[in-house]
Amino acid sequence: MTGQIVILLGPPGAGKGTQARMLEERHGLVQLSTGDMLRGAVRAGTPAGLAAKAVMEAGGLVSDEIVLAILKERMTQPDVARGAILDGFPRTAGQAAALDRLLAGSGGQVSAAVSLDVDDEAMVDRVSGRYTCASCGEGWHDRFKQPTRAGTCDKCGGTEFTRRADDNETTVRDRLGAYHAQTAPLIAHYDALGLLARVDAMQEIDAVARDLERVVTETTARA
Ligand code: AP5
Repeated sequence: MTGQIVILLGPPGAGKGTQARMLEERHGLVQLSTGDMLRGAVRAGTPAGLAAKAVMEAGGLVSDEIVLAILKERMTQPDVARGAILDGFPRTAGQAAALDRLLAGSGGQVSAAVSLDVDDEAMVDRVSGRYTCASCGEGWHDRFKQPTRAGTCDKCGGTEFTRRADDNETTVRDRLGAYHAQTAPLIAHYDALGLLARVDAMQEIDAVARDLERVVTETTARA
């Protein structure tokens, strides 16, 4: 593991997944979303997925043990060597320490941690309007990111869409609570290490992408 490792920090709806996919396309970095991995495990009915399902539906954090096992397995795959965007990981101090150990084992380290700064109240709207293409996984929104032709994914032409079980107002508020209690302290942690960048993620999607682009380009230049 020698490529860039960029962490995206932010509450539910901050745009981590949207921006990670854009960075993946532009920079060839691999998007590693622990949320997607856990939802895959739930769908596959693995023991980890069975243990994670109720916690995710309640808006809590899945145990570090389960998340780390899933992430470690994914990080051994060869494509990750070109660098990765961590979307939704780490989320606890324990996960941040485990990530450092994991990267050190292969001579790597965190390149940058970007906090996507947003207002909590706006996030409830963003998350409850979200839907995803069932064929390619592209994310859409009832108001903020609509396909050019209603009902057809611009990216792959798919016409089936899904909504997440945890994208309802009550669960989003619980997920925001978990973020502030357990994940937001990592902002100070990465700031103290000189690795933190902040981006105003209340801007439109393309403006956020431009700010993030600057961070990744500067990080590449430093490497
Ligand atoms: P996860 O899947 O990571 O969900 P999350 O962190 O709650 O984040 P979201 O996916 O809801 O939001 P996002 O920031 O990716 O926003 P998006 O780009 O989609 O985790 C789900 C659950 O899994 C957790 O609750 C937990 O239980 C478990 N889990 C996952 N990782 C874990 C870990 N490491 N440890 C323990 N448990 C873990 O955007 C949202 C919507 O807004 C979209 O429709 C998008 O089109 C729109 N949008 C995006 N940006 C903008 C913008 N700038 N303006 C307007 N609209 C926008």
